[in-house]
Amino acid sequence: MTKLIRIFLLSFLGLTVGWLPAAAQVKPSGNTAGNQTLVERGRYIVENVAMCELCHTPRDEHGNPDKGRWLQGGPAQLRPSYPSPYWALVEPKIGGGPPGTDADFIKLLTTGISRTGSPPNPPMPPFRMTRADAEAVLAYLKSLPH
Ligand code: HEC
Repeated sequence: MTKLIRIFLLSFLGLTVGWLPAAAQVKPSGNTAGNQTLVERGRYIVENVAMCELCHTPRDEHGNPDKGRWLQGGPAQLRPSYPSPYWALVEPKIGGGPPGTDADFIKLLTTGISRTGSPPNPPMPPFRMTRADAEAVLAYLKSLPH
C-alpha cells in the first residue's frame, strides 16, 4: 500500500514538473505579437464598427476623410436637423492618444460618461463597449502618430 502511494506521488510529481515549463511558455503578457493583435482588434472596431473617423477625421475639399489627418479632430461634420443647444461643434483629436487619462477613456467607452461626469455632448455616441474592446481601441489610438 505504502509503495503504491509512493509510486502515485512520484508520478504526480513527474507530471507537474513536466508540465510547468510548458505552462510558462504560453504566458502571453507583454509579448509583441499579443499587443499587435490588440492593436488590430482596435483598428477593426474604430474603422469598421464604431466608425470613429466619421466625426474625428477632418474631410478634404471633396468631402473625403483626410488620410493625412487621420483621427486628428476638427470642426464637426454633422449638424442636427432640430434645435440642440448642447450639440458639439468641434471633435477632439484622438489619434496618437485621446485627451485625459487612460482610465478616463476606458470609462467613457464602457459607461458613456465623459471626463465631465456626464455623457459627452451629441453627436458623440455614449458607447457601452466591453472593457476588452475599449482597451483594444485605446491600444490602436496610441499606436497612431502623435
Ligand atoms: C457621430 C460622431 C462621433 C463618433 C462616431 C465618435 N465621436 Fe467621439 N466625439 C464626438 C464629438 C462631437 C465629441 C465632443 C463631445 C463634447 O464636446 O462633449 C467627441 C468627443 C470624444 C472624446 C473626448 C471625450 C472627453 O472626455 O473629452 C473622445 C475620447 C472620443 N470622442 C472618442 C471617440 C471614439 C474612440 C470613437 C469611436 C469608438 C468616437 N469618439 C466616435 C463625435 C463622435
